[in-house]
Amino acid sequence: MQRHLISAADLTRDDAVLILDTAEEMARVADRPIKKLPTLRGRTVVNLFFEDSTRTRISFEAAEKRLSADVINFSAKGSSVSKGESLKDTAQTLEAMGVDAVVIRHGASGAPYRLATSGWIDAAVINAGDGTHQHPTQALLDAFTMRRRLVGRDTGLGQDLAGKRITIVGDVLHSRVARSNVDLLHTLGAEVTLVAPPTLLPVGASAWPCEISYDLDAVLPKSDAVMMLRVQRERMNAAFFPTEREYSRRYGLDGDRMARMPEDAIVMHPGPMVRGMEITAEVADSGRCTAIEQVANGVSIRMAVLYLLLGGNEPAVTQSRTTDSRTTEEK
Ligand code: NCD
Repeated sequence: MQRHLISAADLTRDDAVLILDTAEEMARVADRPIKKLPTLRGRTVVNLFFEDSTRTRISFEAAEKRLSADVINFSAKGSSVSKGESLKDTAQTLEAMGVDAVVIRHGASGAPYRLATSGWIDAAVINAGDGTHQHPTQALLDAFTMRRRLVGRDTGLGQDLAGKRITIVGDVLHSRVARSNVDLLHTLGAEVTLVAPPTLLPVGASAWPCEISYDLDAVLPKSDAVMMLRVQRERMNAAFFPTEREYSRRYGLDGDRMARMPEDAIVMHPGPMVRGMEITAEVADSGRCTAIEQVANGVSIRMAVLYLLLGGNEPAVTQSRTTDSRTTEEK
């Protein structure tokens, strides 16, 4: 494992499988009455959010607290300082306070990389979403959800997603979730197809390790998982499709379309969902939609990432390691 988690593309297959397996151990903590491990006691983690977030922010905070870290939340919304300067100033303030890890979400692609490589701070940097670039922990929690559903919770341990057919639908152009998923799913051996209007596909997407299609109905019967993306209006400065109705008709997932998917195939969404646009309420509320499960899995994945980046040599979940019968001296 590297010292920072900036991009899903930086993870090897073995790194990714180790994170998924560690997250399975962490998930067992969530089933206990007291959901807490002492692993990061005395360590300080700062959540530095320059952009809106519900799920990612709460999920990181829950993960940090479950590992007993001291948590500082910093919301930079409304700051009038220019981006580069404010990031450097903030970083130096954090360094002065002696933080061990910084979880950063920023509207500018590349901000977490800058923080990790600038020499401003010594802490581990975890990217919680930067502009349209990357959102590696989202891709990891998505892969975790797919492995549980498509391979099996116990049978999946040590496994990747080889041969699984994953379709990602919607606003790929503005989506860091799509970019991170394409990278990680490719590393894990899955076959990815992107479906989007041509205007919402980035220039250069044809060089990505995936297929591209404009025909959702043709791809659905060949999908093990279909991931719907939100149309990110906040990142748009022009019209990318004629009307919302037209978009939904061609690229939205409703009950009729879902019926074209194989029986065991799942529907995924990173949230926030815009019901009636990319997904109907019928699909969002159906048992095949894993959106809520993805949120729960996000806490386990973020615990695993924090543990692996900061946790040192301690076993992740001490009490559950009953198979390790060696004495402390033998280790
Ligand atoms: C996504 C994001 O912020 O990139 N959401 C998330 O983190 N769960 C996707 C989105 O905003 O549509």
